[in-house]
Amino acid sequence: MKILVTGGAGYIASHTNIELLNSGYEVVAVDNLSNSCMESIMRVEKLKGKKIHFYRADILDKQAMQSIFDQEKIDAVIHFAGLKAVGESCSIPLTYFRNNLSGTINLLEVMQEFGVNNFVFSSSATVYGEPERVPVTEDFPLSATNPYGRTKLMIEEMLGDLYQSDSSWNIAILRYFNPIGAHESGEIGEDPNGIPNNLVPYVAKVAAGVLEKINVFGNDYDTPDGTGIRDYIHVVDLAVGHIKAIEKLSDNPGLVVYNLGTGVGYSVMEIINNYEKACHKKLPYVVTARRPGDIAISYADPSKALRELHWKAEKGIEQMCEDSYRWQSKNPNGY
Ligand code: NAD
Ligand code: WQD
Repeated sequence: MKILVTGGAGYIASHTNIELLNSGYEVVAVDNLSNSCMESIMRVEKLKGKKIHFYRADILDKQAMQSIFDQEKIDAVIHFAGLKAVGESCSIPLTYFRNNLSGTINLLEVMQEFGVNNFVFSSSATVYGEPERVPVTEDFPLSATNPYGRTKLMIEEMLGDLYQSDSSWNIAILRYFNPIGAHESGEIGEDPNGIPNNLVPYVAKVAAGVLEKINVFGNDYDTPDGTGIRDYIHVVDLAVGHIKAIEKLSDNPGLVVYNLGTGVGYSVMEIINNYEKACHKKLPYVVTARRPGDIAISYADPSKALRELHWKAEKGIEQMCEDSYRWQSKNPNGY
């Protein structure tokens, strides 16, 4: 089976490419390299000793997409391509709408044209907005608190309408919680441009001595230690979830939605403590103001994915921090 992976050079895609190759799939990857580089593709090929058919192209370029579908006989698409920085999406919302929404519409139209109707979509726990309680189940009310989140919500709604119009589509919407960590080889991992927005990539750079100290965004939340709680999930577990989703699509399930998380929440201070154990040093931090738009606590109820996909996150927080640190130390300047 041949899988088209959009955003195929990115963080989660590169780990998914490994799992796809492990499971015997052929991988066709498309990426415009706006937030990644070819090196991640080459490292995956080297780790697995297998080729990826890579196309440097923009999903906004319909002709380029048509030419890929023309050349390759695609069976299913995993759609990672998108812009993902919450803060940036507030400054340049139209860029986010153009890239994420128009890009997805293009892709779906080309799939329709070529009769490909198996689709896995990278959604996010951000579509739960500020959840009323935890753990969060898939039937919670949905809302968006920023333009990035709105693109995810709008795409989910678009997929719902598409499926209503034509039930031959098989669509798996995967709502990721907080992916962190790296492949255990230390050869591939997250390589954000500039100063990281997210906690663990920031902590990793402090551990590596690239940044001076961690800013803890608020310690007055209604949580046991006052800092925000999230459901961090190892990126390799997340990648395996995509293989399970592809397998599920072959049963013709129609449109299905799954939370991919561990079901366990850790606070910012717990992450710092665990990271200190992984890197064997004290990590300096200061408590600063809350980051606007942040919520106190979010973690998944992942039981639907267990029941229906037979998938469960296996790797604990220690391994997430150890693997993150291995990647960071082996690649202090990224790829
Ligand atoms: P990433 O930035 O590493 O990967 C996205 C890839 O898409 C990049 O390689 C980028 O160059 C590419 N891309 C962007 N726009 C494109 C376009 N128009 N045409 C072709 N390629 C394009 O991000 P990631 O963390 O691997 O995230 C993958 C997906 O998962 C994204 O859709 C993101 O919104 C979603 N997601 C990520 C997280 C997270 O915390 N990392 C959480 C929930 C959901
Ligand atoms: C985690 C915790 C912060 C940085 C974001 C997106 C979400 C999804 C995943 C894509 C929070 C605190 C952070 C720092 C800190 N992405 N923090 N100091 O905000 O849960 O989710 O990434 O879909 O949509 O919103 O992740 O890693 O930024 O923050 O104290 O320097 O760490 O306040 O409690 P978040 P995060």
